[in-house]
Amino acid sequence: MIDKIKEYIGEAQAFSTQTPAELEAFRIKFLGSKGLLKEFFAEFKNVPNEQKKEFGQVINLLKTSAEEKVKSIQEALENKEESKGFYGDLTRSGEPVTIGSRHPISLVKNQIIDIFSNIGFNVSEGPEIEDDWHNFTALNLPEYHPARDMQDTFFIQTDPDILLRTHTSSVQVRYMENNKPPIRTISPGRVFRNEAVSSRSHCIFHQVEGLYIDKDVSFADLKQTLLHFTKEMFGKSKIRLRPSYFPFTEPSAEIDIYWGLKTETDYRITKGTGWLEIGGCGMVDPNVLKNCGIDPEEYTGFAFGMGIERIAMLNYQIGDIRMFYENDVRFLEQFKASI
Ligand code: PHE
Repeated sequence: MIDKIKEYIGEAQAFSTQTPAELEAFRIKFLGSKGLLKEFFAEFKNVPNEQKKEFGQVINLLKTSAEEKVKSIQEALENKEESKGFYGDLTRSGEPVTIGSRHPISLVKNQIIDIFSNIGFNVSEGPEIEDDWHNFTALNLPEYHPARDMQDTFFIQTDPDILLRTHTSSVQVRYMENNKPPIRTISPGRVFRNEAVSSRSHCIFHQVEGLYIDKDVSFADLKQTLLHFTKEMFGKSKIRLRPSYFPFTEPSAEIDIYWGLKTETDYRITKGTGWLEIGGCGMVDPNVLKNCGIDPEEYTGFAFGMGIERIAMLNYQIGDIRMFYENDVRFLEQFKASI
């Protein structure tokens, strides 16, 4: 009997077929409910005790050989079908589809655009590679003016100077040159400064600058506009305008918002004060209006500029600005829900 089983093991191991019908016949012969294995297992009780161990081992081997053979041929046949475009098991679930997410900078930028477009601002854009006039000279920063050092610049070419824009105020110059007041525009975009990279500042970042020019625009209009923005954006209504200096505005101020100190990230980002500077602002200097072909006797205006990264860091509690540019998918995936 044992020899007989061993023969069947050999048969099972050597079996091969290209057709599902032959495979099924094989399965029934060996593993079916009236198949060989059933028969041998039933025989087990009649085997003399001293042979039971060896008998058990061979029928187990027959069982695994037959099962493995059926499984491997089945897989091979399925693969063959699939490569012809037929999927044997149509109920099989599909490959999981991974959905992308918007970058947090884009999310915040879009939010800012929404808030300002609701109060009548349009969006203007300009080149990242600028000439000296639009980035500096038109903005009341003539050559050799010490204030040029306020923003360390990446130069692409000198004489004539071509550079990576250090702020999106350059877009506002272009806008004023090409449009007549009333002007209400915001200019979001990427800017570049030759600065050391740390957890709080980067040599590439994003700004949104705003410009409003019309008859009788006052500093009070500026303050109310900024207050409206901080309420809409953060739900916070405490801001502080600290006197400051920018060559293109007079008077000028830094915009601080009171964020509070609830989390460790709040401490880190606000340097433990609860206040965070989000940008600069001021009344457009009459010289700038003149440079851009607008009569300062007739029109006044305000401008402001802020960093998008700072705002995104607060909103999403991100403690290190460098994370925005590393594009680690584990970081980016966290913004899926915010689309
Ligand atoms: N351009 C300034 C900067 O990048 C910000 C600013 C814009 C200040 C408009 C005042 C008015 O630092």
